[in-house]
Amino acid sequence: MNAVAVIGIGELTTHSPELGMLTDAAVVVEDGVVRWVGPEKQAPAADRQVDLGGRAVVPGFVDSHTHLVFAGDRGAEFAARMAGERYDGGGIASTVAATRAASDARLRELLARRVAELRAQGTTTVEIKSGYGLTIDDERRALQLAGEVTRETTFLGAHVVPQGTLRAAYLELVTGPMLAACAPHARWIDVFCEPGSPHAFDADEARTVLLAGRTAGLGLRVHGNQLGAGPGVALAVELGAASVDHCTYLSDPDVDALAAGDTVATLLPGVEFSTRSPYPDARRLLDAGVAVALATDCNPGTCFSSSMPLMIALAVREMGMTPAEALRAATVGAARALRRDDIGVLAPGRASHLTVLDAPSQVHLAYRPGVPLARALDLDAG
Ligand code: NIG
Ligand code: FE
Repeated sequence: MNAVAVIGIGELTTHSPELGMLTDAAVVVEDGVVRWVGPEKQAPAADRQVDLGGRAVVPGFVDSHTHLVFAGDRGAEFAARMAGERYDGGGIASTVAATRAASDARLRELLARRVAELRAQGTTTVEIKSGYGLTIDDERRALQLAGEVTRETTFLGAHVVPQGTLRAAYLELVTGPMLAACAPHARWIDVFCEPGSPHAFDADEARTVLLAGRTAGLGLRVHGNQLGAGPGVALAVELGAASVDHCTYLSDPDVDALAAGDTVATLLPGVEFSTRSPYPDARRLLDAGVAVALATDCNPGTCFSSSMPLMIALAVREMGMTPAEALRAATVGAARALRRDDIGVLAPGRASHLTVLDAPSQVHLAYRPGVPLARALDLDAG
């Protein structure tokens, strides 16, 4: 037995309907699973204790949308954007070139550093997409590397049509031999459905990609409605995708479809921040009964931030969410977007993913923006 009692929890957010929010609480974990949650005074005996000295604890953040496997730098593109240039996905080509040129060892090192950066800010589950390889070997390599650090791997060969390739030929590749090579290394398939971008895919193309992915046994995710109103949300809901991500520009029928369907709307406010775009209206979605998630989209083009606390702060300040709603979207909501029920909630039987805040309450995540309050609790360390 190697049970650890985490005590001294000033405020414990469980997201469990039965347990709710606790004060002066304890959590007992063993073998990666929560065994007991309750008032510290009633905590059962354990082999070891970790005393958090009155800090707040929340379920570990679930970052359900990232593009962490890449090399190169696009700081200059960001600076140009802040000087007035518009984002249309064209910069992806430079990351593709740098990623293809990088060795396996270099990509592995960059990825490990980024995953450590996420964890140091409280993220305990991360989804990682390919999409900066765009050849059979480079996409498979990205997924293999991602698979070394997470089980939530997503094949995004349909990110953009690579330079020098005909659109129809590339679609055949992505839905044929590239998919066959990548599917064994992926849980999900994703497509950048954005008819407004000359580089991305329209509704018919996206449908072809998603249906091929489904036939190959992959779950569906969609990048949609990022740069303008478009067909991404409707398509995602129609096909029963687990999540449609961005949702920056939504029509009333889009919102109605999301409310009636089973697809999570994943909001990525770091993208609006880093592309100087209008934020999605989370309030409208929540009031309509839509399941909402928050994630970083950490990538070198539209949001090079790995900080879930920043996303929570932006969601509260700019998107009409309460602090509790934003935290819920960053944990339970994002877990739902990954169709996982073992994470996002702290209760007996769930994963022991605890995030500690150097603060008395989870409200501080939004109340103290930019302050490094959150970290994933490492229960293996003595
Ligand atoms: O989620 N929208 C498409 N893909 C990424 C950005 C990729 C890039 O610019 O490198 C996104 O925003
Ligand atoms: Fe993305």
